[in-house]
Order: sequence, then C-alpha cells, then structure tokens
Amino acid sequence: MAWGVDDIRLTKIKVAPPKAGEVRVKVVANALCHTDLYTLEGSDPEGLFPCILGHEAGAIVESVGEGVTSVKVGDHVVPCYTPECKQPDCIFCASKKTNLCPTIRATQGQGVMPDGTTRFAAAADGTPIHHFMGCSTFAEYTVVSEISCAKVNPMADLETVCLLGCGIATGLGAVRKTTGVEQGSTVGVFGLGAVGLAVIQAAKLAGASRIFAIDTNPDKFEPAKALGATDCLNPKDHSDPVQQVLVGETKWGLDYTYDCTGNTEVMRSALEAAHRGWGMSCVIGVAAAGKEISTRPFQLVTGRRWVGTAFGGYKSRTEVPMLVDEHMSGELPLKQYITHRYSGIQEITTAIDAMHSGDVLRAVVSY
Ligand SMILES: NC(=O)c1ccc[n+]([C@@H]2O[C@H](COP(=O)([O-])OP(=O)(O)OC[C@H]3O[C@@H](n4cnc5c(N)ncnc54)[C@H](O)[C@@H]3O)[C@@H](O)[C@H]2O)c1
Ligand SMILES: [Zn+2]
Ligand SMILES: [Zn+2]
Repeated sequence: MAWGVDDIRLTKIKVAPPKAGEVRVKVVANALCHTDLYTLEGSDPEGLFPCILGHEAGAIVESVGEGVTSVKVGDHVVPCYTPECKQPDCIFCASKKTNLCPTIRATQGQGVMPDGTTRFAAAADGTPIHHFMGCSTFAEYTVVSEISCAKVNPMADLETVCLLGCGIATGLGAVRKTTGVEQGSTVGVFGLGAVGLAVIQAAKLAGASRIFAIDTNPDKFEPAKALGATDCLNPKDHSDPVQQVLVGETKWGLDYTYDCTGNTEVMRSALEAAHRGWGMSCVIGVAAAGKEISTRPFQLVTGRRWVGTAFGGYKSRTEVPMLVDEHMSGELPLKQYITHRYSGIQEITTAIDAMHSGDVLRAVVSY
C-alpha cells in the first residue's frame, strides 16, 4: 500500500532497555534526509510499517546493554546506518576497500534488532513498531547496535554534526575515499542538494581546478558557488545533451563526475561526461526501485570507469569522529547546509512539508 506524510503519527511509545550489544540513546537533534521520504512515500513490500523513521541524528547515550564497551552513559554519538563491527573475522571491516560491514545487515533490513525483535511498542496497546535503517531517530529515545554508534567529541554541537550521519558525509567521502580527487582535477557535480554541495566542498578542499555544478534548478547555483563551484550549468538552457556540452567545454571531459540526483538518465550523462582514458564517474543518488542504468560499452572500453558509493565509503565508527574533529577545527564548515531549523519533535511533519518545496538543503529538528 502507499503511504505518505499524512500517515505520520505523533504517538507515545515504550522504548525497551538495550539488550546485549545494544545502546539506548536520547536523541538531541535530527536532520531530515530524502531517504526517509522515499521510504514513507514508497510502497511497503517488506511490511516494515509501522516504523520509526529517521537516520541523521546526534544523540547522547542513556544506557548500555551487556557487553558494550566502546561507549558509556553520557557519551555523545552519531548513530550510523552503515555499522562497523571491527571484528577480525569480518573481511569487510578488515578490508581497506569497503565500509559495507554486513554483520547486522539482514535484521536491519527487516526492521528489527539483531536478535530478531524490536525495542519499540505503542504505549497504548503494545503493538510492536519496527526499526528503520538501524537508527529510528524520529524518537526521543531509540535503541541502536553498539556497532552502529560513532562516539564523537563531546564538545561538538550535536545540532550540527548530526549532518555527518548521512548525506554530507556521503558527499565528502565520495570525493575523498571512493574516487580520490587529486589537486588540479576537473570535477562535475550533477544535482546540487546537500549531497552534491558536499561533493563540491570536498572537491574544493582537495584542490580541484575547475568544478562544474549542474542542476535544473538555478536557485542552487549561489550555494554551489559559495562552496567552490567555478562553472554553473542548467541542462534546460541547452539543446544538446549536457554531457556533450561539458565535453565541448573541456575537450575530453571531466576527471571526476558525480550523480547526486538518483535519476538514471543523469547517471548516464555523468558517466559520458567523464574524461576519455581515465575519467571516473560515481553514482551517489539512490534510484527508484527497478530502475537500470545504461550506456554504450564503448564508453568504458575507452577508459571511463563507473563506480558507486554508500555512505561515502566511510567506516562509520572510525571515520565519523574524524569528520567531527575536522569540523571542530574549523576546516569543515557545516552550517551552510542547515537552511531550516525546527524545535520540538512534533515539527518533523512541518519539516517534511518544507522538504517538498525544493529550497531545503537540510532541515534540523531539535527535540
Ligand atoms: N549513496 C548514499 O549512501 C547516499 C546517502 C545519502 C543520500 N543519497 C542520495 O543522494 C541523492 C541526493 O540527495 P540530496 O539530499 O542532496 O537530494 P536533493 O533532492 O536535495 O537534491 C537533488 C538535486 O538534484 C537536482 N536535480 C533533479 N533532477 C535533475 C536533473 N535531471 N539534472 C540535474 N539536476 C537535477 C534537484 O534540483 C536537486 O537540487 C538522493 O538520491 C539521495 O537518496 C545517497
Ligand atoms: Zn540519508
Ligand atoms: Zn564488520
């Protein structure tokens, strides 16, 4: 069945104590991300609802379950939907090539904790409520796995560094980890929401010489320029496909391109705008269910590479605290992403309505 913003209910729930390997946290602030909306507005094949959405948050540890050692009561944490178990027998955590730790993947996808049960129930009648993305931060208290809890500098402002729980970290990591932009590179960013702007910010910090910002909404060009875009381009202003325009401007294409829209046609444009011989194109956007990407194989034969990223390739518990420290040092400003602020958990629906307007980068709700 189809769900929508009208199906969001503010309701009293019971949040059970954390079991072994789990942590109960008090959520301080939550930023909204489009993935919450996709889930809300998409169909529900797995029977995930009712559930508590939300996955970009700053929180404080309230209690810990048996065996938890990496965080203690009072620690400040960013819950992360990409966990990091750090176990020596986890070949994913042991590898430098990936951040995709699969330890709790199956149960996380089913909306339950690793023991197969939920910690949430409706206060009124005890109806079980599912978890979401291992976070469920649209709640004043939530329970997450210890391996999903990035412990951050207690001096950091949780109402700001909550942004590092998803979109902003993803854009930064796509540049730094997944593609590794070098000084002097040329870059093309398709889609200038918070994720695309974070790509621009990281590309500028990496010393990119030219950064093309591409969006069908020209209102996004000012924030893009403020972060380092050198050229702004609206595909609607050109009769030729945007990849042809970009190749025309640069002779051979761009060293690194990023799809930050989730549109599979844009993914193709980004790949075909990449430099002959070595251009790398990174898929960041999440496409609608069932969509496929295509290009002529010749594009790859002639040296372009297609890659993708989840959470920017960041190993969450190890690297999110490092991003927070970089922010604290002043080298990674984040405030520019927060265009809307709300106070009180009841404002989540107001924030979701605002997100449909198109002028929101990130809306942060403080509880
Ligand atoms: N891979 C990951 O781990 C990960 C993490 C977070 C978000 N995402 C995804 O990244 C994408 C971007 O997230 P966001 O929060 O910045 O979204 P957003 O909706 O705020 O931004 C998307 C931008 O793309 C622009 N756009 C739409 N169609 C376009 C087109 N045809 N050509 C050029 N621009 C176009 C829109 O005007 C908008 O400015 C989403 O698909 C989101 O689901 C992926
Ligand atoms: Zn997200
Ligand atoms: Zn692991």
